Amino acid sequence: MTLSAAVAPAEALNRFATLPPYPFARLRSLLGGVEPGGPELVMTIGEPRHAPPAFVPEIIARESAGFGRYPPTEGPLSYRQAAADWLIRRFDLPPGFVDPQKQVLALSGTREGLFMAALALVPGRKNGKTPAVLLPNPFYQCYAAAAAASGAEPIFVPATAETGHLPDYASLPAEIWDRTAFIYLCSPANPQGATASRAYLTDLLARAARTGAILAADECYSEIYDRAPPTGALEVAAAGGGSENLLVFHSLSKRSNLPGLRMGFVAGGAKLIAEMARLRSYGGATVPTPLALAGAAAWRDEAHVEANRALYREKFDLADQILANLPGYARPEGGFFLWLRVKEGEDSALRLWREHGLRVLPGAYLARDSDGALGGPKGNPGAPYLRVALVEDLDSTRRGLEILREEMRAHPGA
Ligand SMILES: Cc1ncc(COP(=O)(O)O)c(C=O)c1O
Repeated sequence: MTLSAAVAPAEALNRFATLPPYPFARLRSLLGGVEPGGPELVMTIGEPRHAPPAFVPEIIARESAGFGRYPPTEGPLSYRQAAADWLIRRFDLPPGFVDPQKQVLALSGTREGLFMAALALVPGRKNGKTPAVLLPNPFYQCYAAAAAASGAEPIFVPATAETGHLPDYASLPAEIWDRTAFIYLCSPANPQGATASRAYLTDLLARAARTGAILAADECYSEIYDRAPPTGALEVAAAGGGSENLLVFHSLSKRSNLPGLRMGFVAGGAKLIAEMARLRSYGGATVPTPLALAGAAAWRDEAHVEANRALYREKFDLADQILANLPGYARPEGGFFLWLRVKEGEDSALRLWREHGLRVLPGAYLARDSDGALGGPKGNPGAPYLRVALVEDLDSTRRGLEILREEMRAHPGA
């Protein structure tokens, strides 16, 4: 079976022509025309389904006069203040460590900010060479498009079981580090659920500072964790080294079940934020003020976040009960995906749909082929995996997990 990743030649249209179709489009073509073999159950997309906080629509209604004005590009100061205060509380940062005026920008969801950051900050050349953008493999797809937009060479660094499902950036050759301009890190990681330790982050931030690279820490799953709250990159920056070459990205989509509100923020080094703000004043997404004010209230409230986390924990517990003794299963440290090892992910995804109506994402669609030069297996590191989103209610989740148990038993990963 082919992976149907139709890749056009680079000169065909534009610099994005080399991007494969988005994972969900690939899944649609894999399953297109195949009848579901049972009631449809969708466990593909990372769209939270728990209830958003009730105060959000109330605030939007109350503040609706704000729709009559252009919003400030950087977001209302009260939103940026709420974001900075939250960072300080959540990551136990020294008071004043994040200046809301100079170090925070509102984002219309973190995706656009993650994309635009590379566009704004990757230079044309680095040490006289084509700059490199480091990204984990598998990865959140936005990073590769951002690297392409910036004109840099993307370096897909294996993030496999052998490396604890995080990219081993430290082991990259000096030739790559020498021209590395920008580094994406996702912790908790989508899709694998691994979290970066304090030591990992300390080393990476120091290495980035030494080589003049920018670390973009995508922490949009930081509030969906199992036992311990994941360390944030700002915590490490506060402990030494500072945040001059750091950006952290946070979102209300997962934390507060508000994927449709499109509210997030980026915080970090003042110069980096100023550069992003400059580009955004020309072509950035802005956030409608009533939504930003509702978003600010969400950052100020933790009760709904705790309740949300508890609901995910119940589902992790259920996964433990149903899948625990299968070698392809591991309870994730954070995020709400299972990253299940099977014999061949694409075959399993097709079979699960055809035989049971269960829709899950083949891991290969979230990764790029590797020649093995940077370690890890040759081929696609996501190929023997399925990504399963635990976003449905408990009953549906149970049904999906029971189907998956049979598939994993019948077609175990090597
Ligand atoms: C790793 C990761 N980063 C960023 C995002 C973007 O989230 P949003 O734009 O909703 O804030 C997502 C969404 O699925 C994600 O999985």
